[in-house]
Amino acid sequence: MEKVPVVILDFGSQYNQLIARRVRELNIYSRIFPYSISWEEISKYKPDAIILTGGPASVHTPGAPLPDKRIFEERIPLLGICYGMQVMVEMLGGKVVPSEKREYGKTPLFVKEKNHLLEGWGEEEIVWMSHGDRVESLPEGFKTFASTLHSPHAVIGDPKRKYYGVQFHPEVVHTSKGKLLFSNFLLKIASIKPQWDMGSFLEKKIQEIRERVGEEKVVCALSGGVDSSVLAVLLKKAVGDRLHAIFVDTGLLRKGERERVESLFLKDFPLNLHIVDAKERFLKALKGVVDPEEKRRIIGNEFINVFEEEAKKIGNIKFLAQGTLYPDVIESTSSFGGPSSTIKTHHNVGGLPEKMELELIEPFRELFKDEVRELGRKLGLPEEIILRHPFPGPGLAVRIIGEVTPEALRIVREADAIVEEEIKKAGYYNELWQAFAVFLPVKSVGVMGDERTYENVIAVRCVVSEDAMTADWAKLPHDLLHRIANRIINEVKGVNRVVYDISSKPPATIEWE
Ligand code: XMP
Repeated sequence: MEKVPVVILDFGSQYNQLIARRVRELNIYSRIFPYSISWEEISKYKPDAIILTGGPASVHTPGAPLPDKRIFEERIPLLGICYGMQVMVEMLGGKVVPSEKREYGKTPLFVKEKNHLLEGWGEEEIVWMSHGDRVESLPEGFKTFASTLHSPHAVIGDPKRKYYGVQFHPEVVHTSKGKLLFSNFLLKIASIKPQWDMGSFLEKKIQEIRERVGEEKVVCALSGGVDSSVLAVLLKKAVGDRLHAIFVDTGLLRKGERERVESLFLKDFPLNLHIVDAKERFLKALKGVVDPEEKRRIIGNEFINVFEEEAKKIGNIKFLAQGTLYPDVIESTSSFGGPSSTIKTHHNVGGLPEKMELELIEPFRELFKDEVRELGRKLGLPEEIILRHPFPGPGLAVRIIGEVTPEALRIVREADAIVEEEIKKAGYYNELWQAFAVFLPVKSVGVMGDERTYENVIAVRCVVSEDAMTADWAKLPHDLLHRIANRIINEVKGVNRVVYDISSKPPATIEWE
């Protein structure tokens, strides 16, 4: 069994992925497990530290999630975060009570006594709070190191046993010294050596894939995005010509996408590339459809059909490689069965492996997006691909509000290319998470020359974000927005008005559909 230096026990907090990420940023490998995992299981991974995450429950609700109590019998350094700290306190003999006042958001924390965990922290620091219960009395051996107005025991610890708890969320960027806290806990308190790096990961993966695939054939879907491009190059390196990459031209792609993919994978990184022109099929299937989820379902199904047909032509395929990322894995295996409500169904090729009876190869299951980017760099992919903004699987179909028609596609595709070009020219591309055009199903009156016009409206959406979970509309210079609007109205036939979207996520989402 592989060693996992940091085991994270998941009690259902929405921030759990961020914890894993903070640990990885220190070049330490970590994995998230359901809170209910037994000590026997945990011990197989030989962890050097355990982190107990936050979660929505209260330790006093009947059936509240509790970890295997044997984790407290071993001398493994522990860090409890929010609910994770409360669970630790209750199980070790302290007391947790409901707060008179809930704390939520940025909160000043007052450090009373320095310790290893708070090394480098000032006397007053801002932390991110989100809790309803608080610790009232400490278990034996514990001390209080810091407090806030409503949490007298906001940082506690038993330095002898190396057990620590924080009421706030150090994993959230709003906790200004959060990264330092993780580094203190893992490097200094738990004495873990940072050994996780992309070079060694790459070698390991290539070897693993070679052994698994042997002489068989592997197929993968290539979209031109970062994940699928890095995946294809990695697989090519591992299995050579036994890799077949299928690129489906859905007709819902960005301007020049197909040409970009062709030039990259026929010339620069040559591989067995199968290009399928399915434009007509997708348009036909989408005719008359206006509901976003219905569009997604149709596109997902159509994609599977096209892909399957093409794979059949290649014949005798045993493996399907997919660029599933770590956040997708956590989402689908979370101890509470994933997010409580589906906002949008983001995974469009989910049905593929079962339908085609293929075995899955998912080399990125342990990686975050930025780690895949790093891997891409190691593999020599150009920055233009590595830093490409994310593009939704259903493509321009979810950027056309209402029915997808050839005319709407032309307009949104042209407008989108102008947005991208101007943003790049002005040097903002790499600062933005996404920047694109949306076609609105309304017409507005305008005047051009001496003529009255009655034409379409384009919305420009530019956002900054760390991980797409939350996003802020980008405060771009007015002259840049002006240039974008002018060019779209002048160059894209059928548009006489451009608006800029100034909503953040939440409550809006990044895409309009
Ligand atoms: P939202 O609109 O939910 O988007 O704020 C968050 C991120 O996900 C992308 N997105 C999708 N990606 N299939 C995808 O592969 C989809 O159906 C889909 N919908 C949204 C979106 O572009 C943003 O980066």
